[in-house]
Amino acid sequence: MGMLSDPEIIRGAVRQHYANAARGVQEGPGSCCCSSDGCGCGSVPTGYDLDEIRNLSASAPLASFGCGNPLLLVDLEPGQVVLDLGSGAGLDVILSAKRVAPTGTAYGLDMTDEMLDLARRNAALAGAENAEFLKGTIERIPLPDGSVDVILSNCVINLSADKGAVLREAYRVLRPGGRFAVADVVIQGEPPSDAVRREMALWSSCISGALMESEYVAELTRAGFEEIRVEIIEESRGEGACCSGNKNPLGPTSRAVSALIRAAKPE
Ligand SMILES: C[S@@+](CC[C@H](N)C(=O)[O-])C[C@H]1O[C@@H](n2cnc3c(N)ncnc32)[C@H](O)[C@@H]1O
Repeated sequence: MGMLSDPEIIRGAVRQHYANAARGVQEGPGSCCCSSDGCGCGSVPTGYDLDEIRNLSASAPLASFGCGNPLLLVDLEPGQVVLDLGSGAGLDVILSAKRVAPTGTAYGLDMTDEMLDLARRNAALAGAENAEFLKGTIERIPLPDGSVDVILSNCVINLSADKGAVLREAYRVLRPGGRFAVADVVIQGEPPSDAVRREMALWSSCISGALMESEYVAELTRAGFEEIRVEIIEESRGEGACCSGNKNPLGPTSRAVSALIRAAKPE
């Protein structure tokens, strides 16, 4: 995929978008979903156990911006270290923290202060004492080599202007045998036009920056991952989705779909 804009400009636009979204969540769910935000804001994506979520206090369930449930791809165990790339309001980190407790740790990494504040508050309300939120970018993960058992991410990698760096960093911080378990938007059909790739509002809504399914596999392979599988879980993202109105912004020859993507770092 060609780089059409300065990565710093993209990161700035994405940060602004999700800072506004975090403020919207705090003002109430009605101000958030389906207005300026895409990516499922205000609703929990398919694949979650709603009873488990109802048992969490806090507003975490109201603030999912994800496009699937990456936790379906892994069986987390007590004692493990989990890292969620682009943790948003913290839902996947809180759910992970409960699974790896009491000795494990679930880290969330995000670059947006407003999201980090919301996530920390949600984790405290949910009593997830082993959830930790780090400020930083997913292109430069602030954790040591080989320190993580499972990488999670939910609708975030598509937002990065440098997917290669994200996947190399994910590989670096995973221990040998560690798992990569991600929900993300991918494109099927024709690659998006340059005009779509340059559209910042569509980028922040998880459409313009999405990789073709084949590119995702190629980038993961280049980073060193094995056992790569991409499973499409929602066919209709784009057309009729709240982030894009009633028209598929990609045109008739391609579409954005939600996928669960799994891979492993070799032993
Ligand atoms: C679509 S939301 C997803 C949030 C969360 N994973 C969820 O499922 O609700 C994207 C999140 O990723 C963060 N983000 C986007 N690009 C990032 C980057 N390059 N580095 C760190 N965080 C990033 C945003 O601040 C935002 O909180």
